[in-house]
Amino acid sequence: GKVIYNGELVERENVKVDIEDRGYQFGDGIYEVIRVYNGGLFTKNEHIQRLYESAEKIGLKIPFEKEFLCKKLEELVEENQLQTGIIYLQITRGVSPRQHGFPTPAVEPVLVAYTKSMERPEALMKEGAKGLLVEDIRWLRCDIKSLNLLGNIMAKQKAAESGCFEAIQHREGIVTEGSSSNVFMIKNGILITHPAVNLILNGITRQVILKICKSKQIPVKEEAFTVDDLVNADEVFISSTTSEIMPIVQLDGNKIGHGIPGEWTKQLQQYFMEEIQ
Ligand code: PDD
Repeated sequence: GKVIYNGELVERENVKVDIEDRGYQFGDGIYEVIRVYNGGLFTKNEHIQRLYESAEKIGLKIPFEKEFLCKKLEELVEENQLQTGIIYLQITRGVSPRQHGFPTPAVEPVLVAYTKSMERPEALMKEGAKGLLVEDIRWLRCDIKSLNLLGNIMAKQKAAESGCFEAIQHREGIVTEGSSSNVFMIKNGILITHPAVNLILNGITRQVILKICKSKQIPVKEEAFTVDDLVNADEVFISSTTSEIMPIVQLDGNKIGHGIPGEWTKQLQQYFMEEIQ
């Protein structure tokens, strides 16, 4: 299929990564994952907005207007005839002889986007997934959707090695987020999630869930909570572009609630379904 390379739709085979690309050498860049449902980009503007915010936070100037990029992404989905799947998009600071400081003068950033067909994880969303608690060893700017994912990768690998779907990270006893998702708990009818500060990525799915709660008058607290709170929650779920609202029914092998997806979680899944149709 086709990919976007610096603003043009080209064949994937025609794109090569330079060995001195700063994304390749330093992880010096940012990315987004956007869901495609029925050929349409879900929460497109929110993802594009976050991309530009991440770029700004690392001092990277994206050489395209938002509107142009949106149009190109839509063309890509159309061209590849993607129905249900994702777009992966990344921008690196560009190609330059290796040195840590930004290139001076600045070089052209390198933008790549491609599509991948991916079904909704319906079976697991119904059944619920297992989580593993791990220490959050990442840096202090997790609000940036950076290509540097070593901490996240190592957390996810630990989870996988324990037969778990996601690693639930905590910093000094406070639950931050999953390795590639946000974490929510429900206790006594109140939905609680970590506030959108530097310690987590403010997930677009997270934002959609908070919007749903507001409109359905479901009580929400954006407040830090402890591992102990999580383990004793009535319900736990994670959220992400690819996993939507994924119930967590076990943590470190111990059941959450009754060990099956809870009523609030199922209700929110239902409301989320209505958003994506
Ligand atoms: N991950 N937190 C982290 C660390 C993430 O990597 C992600 C997304 C999220 C959820 O964000 P959103 O709802 O906008 O997808 C939270 C993407 C899907 C990934 O890296 O594949």
